[in-house]
Amino acid sequence: MLSQEFINEVKDRNDITDVISGYVTLKRSGRNSKGLCPFHSEKTPSFTVFGDTASFYCFGCQAGGDVIGFIRRIENLDYVEAVKFLANRAGLAVPEEGRNDGLSHMRNRIREQNREAGRFFYRSLYSPAGRHALDYFHSRGLTDETIRHFGLGWSPDGWDQLARHLEELGFRRDEILAADLGYTSRKGGIIDRFRNRVMFPIIDLQGNVLAFGGRRFTDDAVGGKYVNTSDTLIYKKTNHLFAMNLAKNSKSRELILCEGYMDVIALHQAGFTNAVAALGTAVTPQQARVLHKYADRVVLSQDGDEAGQKSIARSIPIMKEEGLDVRVLQIAGAKDPDEFIRKYGPERFKSLLEGCSNDIEYSILRIESKYDISTDDGRLHYLQEVCGYLSELGSLEREVYASRIADKLHIEKSAVISQSEASARRRAKMEKEKEFREMAKNTAGIGSRINPDRSLHLRASNAEYSLLSILFLHQDLIAKAMTRLPPEEFVTEFGRRIYQQFIEIHSSGQEVSMSLLSTQFSEEESAEIVRVINSYDTVGTNDFDTLIGIIKSEHFTPKPQDAAKLSADELLEQMNRLKKKKN
Ligand code: UTP
Ligand code: MN
Repeated sequence: MLSQEFINEVKDRNDITDVISGYVTLKRSGRNSKGLCPFHSEKTPSFTVFGDTASFYCFGCQAGGDVIGFIRRIENLDYVEAVKFLANRAGLAVPEEGRNDGLSHMRNRIREQNREAGRFFYRSLYSPAGRHALDYFHSRGLTDETIRHFGLGWSPDGWDQLARHLEELGFRRDEILAADLGYTSRKGGIIDRFRNRVMFPIIDLQGNVLAFGGRRFTDDAVGGKYVNTSDTLIYKKTNHLFAMNLAKNSKSRELILCEGYMDVIALHQAGFTNAVAALGTAVTPQQARVLHKYADRVVLSQDGDEAGQKSIARSIPIMKEEGLDVRVLQIAGAKDPDEFIRKYGPERFKSLLEGCSNDIEYSILRIESKYDISTDDGRLHYLQEVCGYLSELGSLEREVYASRIADKLHIEKSAVISQSEASARRRAKMEKEKEFREMAKNTAGIGSRINPDRSLHLRASNAEYSLLSILFLHQDLIAKAMTRLPPEEFVTEFGRRIYQQFIEIHSSGQEVSMSLLSTQFSEEESAEIVRVINSYDTVGTNDFDTLIGIIKSEHFTPKPQDAAKLSADELLEQMNRLKKKKN
């Protein structure tokens, strides 16, 4: 067990805004910062970091907590590991522990198994039984050197060949299942996850084998085209990129992002050693962050089909948000980069790379391709859509591309500009409204589920929340609150529980923190507490007496009055009235 002192030290040394900006592009707004939530996909930022209370909350998906909670979620770690992660980040030595932590032991066992499995697949590929798999790789143009370089392999055609091999090496059944190298059969035996497939290992930046993809290569094989390791204790698909371990050594600060294993391998073999793959889907913010560590520019080199174009469209904003310069390479005459290289050779691919368009040119061309601009009707609709797109750009870019579009359509540039500005205004308004609606919806819905008393006692509950947020920020006031307002006088049960914890923690001489509170509340409740202690930041300390007054008066009101209909304005008015009475 790590001591509470150590945990506090770790938290003090890791400023939450600092830590989160390593993952999310944050914009300051007042004392807080906002950005796009890394835990769900969204276009307008509802993810907020509260500097004063060292916590975060997403109004879109209700994720919330302190800096440790954030690291747990984003790095997929357990509590102790997250603390250690942050300790490392701050250069703090972790105190020795008495016992070995179970989860990190299991992580090591998974890494060891994956390394052994990778060797086993490679050996099998070059065994007599693996001949047809090796032939397959050769038939796709891969050399033995490339096969070795990527550590490719073959999973033998049987039920449990790998599992038996791992058991001989001393790995237990539960460890094999945890690595997702096998699964349990209906009869209770163990079955290899990968059978008779050509194997691609996914390797992290430190050289650990994290996971595998296995491709079907014979007609009689069962299952989908690819079988992949599902997320395990050491692997989260959306965080990693295939071949990043190799591409990171390229000096160019430019990376080529493809869709598939074979594209990357073919590109490396042809000399483009800066190719990586997101493996089948649009890039995630976490992957964009990894890309940005090693590159300033990313060339999207997706398949030419509709799915590839869709994934480009989804990836562009994510990469731009990360601050990457995005280029789009358009493949013509082949379905993917692998086929292109095979058909036309590396030189032609190089000229594709040199001629590729930036993301704006690409997006405008995409829109244009939908319309027939030789007709008036087509031109009109094209203009409408393209101006909608221009409205998302900065004013300088808007100027440049408005000229080009105006020239193409033979119209005045000012017409294009004013149309896009109108569109920008409309969008800004819609986004504001949407954000507001969502916030209102979420706060209402969640709030009443977690605090069922709230809707009947809205006035009391608002006052309780305000008081709690003041107490959290000014913990010296807790002692004073205790003498004036015993917990029994809280009106809502949820508010009372929080207040009791405040008192208990404070009385034991510790600082009330989200991490201490979260041990006493469910994850959902903790997220709500984060929201509560941060959402009343306009209330100053001088309202302390007023709030206690409101809670007391509500407590001693015999039956619940019709407080549910009290609006925020009315509450404010009530508070002012109370203030006046006192003076
Ligand atoms: P593709 O279908 O384009 O495959 O999927 P590919 O990699 O080009 O393979 P070849 O050239 O047909 O041999 C692109 C990527 O999407 C993921 C894989 O990571 C694949 O490399 N994928 C695809 C899956 O995970 N499962 C599938 O069933 C299909
Ligand atoms: Mn392919």
